[in-house]
Amino acid sequence: MPEEALRDIDEIITDPATYADEGAYHEAFAMLRSTDPVHWCEPRDYRPFWAVTRYADVTAVELNAANFLNAPRQFLVTRADEELLMQQSPDGMFARNLVAMDNPDHKAFRALTADLFTPKGVRTLEGKIADLAKETVDRMVAHGGRCDFVSDIAAWYPLRTIMIVLGVPAEDEPLMLRLSQKIFGNTDEEAGGGEGMTSMLEAFNDFKAYFADIVADRRRNPREDVATILANATINGEPIGDAERDAYFLIVAAAGHDTTSSAISGGLLALIENPDEMAKLRADLSLMPKAVDEFIRWTSPVKHFFRTAVADCEVGGKAIKAGDSLMMCYPSANRDEAVFADPFAFRVDRSPNRHVAFGYGPHVCLGQYLAKLEIRALFEEMLPRVKDIALDGEPAWVKANFVSGLKRLPIRFTA
Ligand code: HEM
Repeated sequence: MPEEALRDIDEIITDPATYADEGAYHEAFAMLRSTDPVHWCEPRDYRPFWAVTRYADVTAVELNAANFLNAPRQFLVTRADEELLMQQSPDGMFARNLVAMDNPDHKAFRALTADLFTPKGVRTLEGKIADLAKETVDRMVAHGGRCDFVSDIAAWYPLRTIMIVLGVPAEDEPLMLRLSQKIFGNTDEEAGGGEGMTSMLEAFNDFKAYFADIVADRRRNPREDVATILANATINGEPIGDAERDAYFLIVAAAGHDTTSSAISGGLLALIENPDEMAKLRADLSLMPKAVDEFIRWTSPVKHFFRTAVADCEVGGKAIKAGDSLMMCYPSANRDEAVFADPFAFRVDRSPNRHVAFGYGPHVCLGQYLAKLEIRALFEEMLPRVKDIALDGEPAWVKANFVSGLKRLPIRFTA
């Protein structure tokens, strides 16, 4: 690839606006996969890194957790915001949560809640989630044939689920929604606030203050929820630190709904745009588990996480130096022509579908079974009750390069 095109690509793949234009996004990454799949990136506003765009390289790096650490670089943060972070926290990290931890801490902290999120653990939530799915579709029907599927439906339902899991009362959900949109949509004026790291830090401080009260309550009145586990958690006989506990709340609360809501709204848009696939799914709801995986592959709501090399090594034929950081480009790996047959076709019965939208290896998404259960329950309830779903205006995507998806999906339908 000519050097100039490669320079342009560094700006393109880091610009939040690219993530609000799916065509531009996929075009850039398809070019990288075919010409320079492990690409050294030197964008103007960010510290340099390797963009790892192919499935085989992403999975190889994530599996080798001994050589590729999660700390200290987690996701794209501008140089200016990194400086701001350095002033706020001694290690320059936004929060010391599971995705920022390495062993031995990662294993110990993940184990605190792991049982709750296994397929068996989430099965205990099936009844509650089915009720919520019904309530959500009742809500949709009550809109009388038109709604903005993102704000009226898709943002609301996963939020309620994760708040039940965490143990947050229903009346505080609007606050949680506002805070997590401020964190993930911080580069989009409409979605989050548009003030980058300043928005994120403000929101995180509000999160901490909120959860301090919940922790105090759960120490006095333990219940069956994640808040009780975290309020009373010990590792090697010692209570876990406040910073780690706050970061744990944050990752479960924030990672648990924006992502799922993007997969739900993006999945519906893909069904609307592919009427044959919508008809196939409506005719055979037993395809739902496969369809759900395809919604998640198709939308890949988490756009990347970083790893940092411990020792000199090679990835995809490129010499990586100790200390270099690597961006795992999940949506690109999920369109990899070497792994997925016809990767740009949306197929509700795609099989196999070993996508990496949930990551891979020891850090693979803790909430993956919960997310799939939620999405399945909603579409199983919605498709039999809501017909003729069609676009009722232009969809729009959040301008954010870390976690993103639709911010508007105006639809009409017959209940
Ligand atoms: C469609 C929905 C979701 C997507 C696409 C998604 C995606 C991801 C990805 C890509 C990672 C990083 C994996 C890696 O580094 O290999 C991750 C980690 C994580 N996710 Fe999710 N996620 C989703 C839903 C959820 C839900 C519902 C929860 C609720 C508990 C959750 C909690 C977490 C946690 C706690 C981690 C950190 C795991 C670790 O580092 O050990 N996620 N997720």
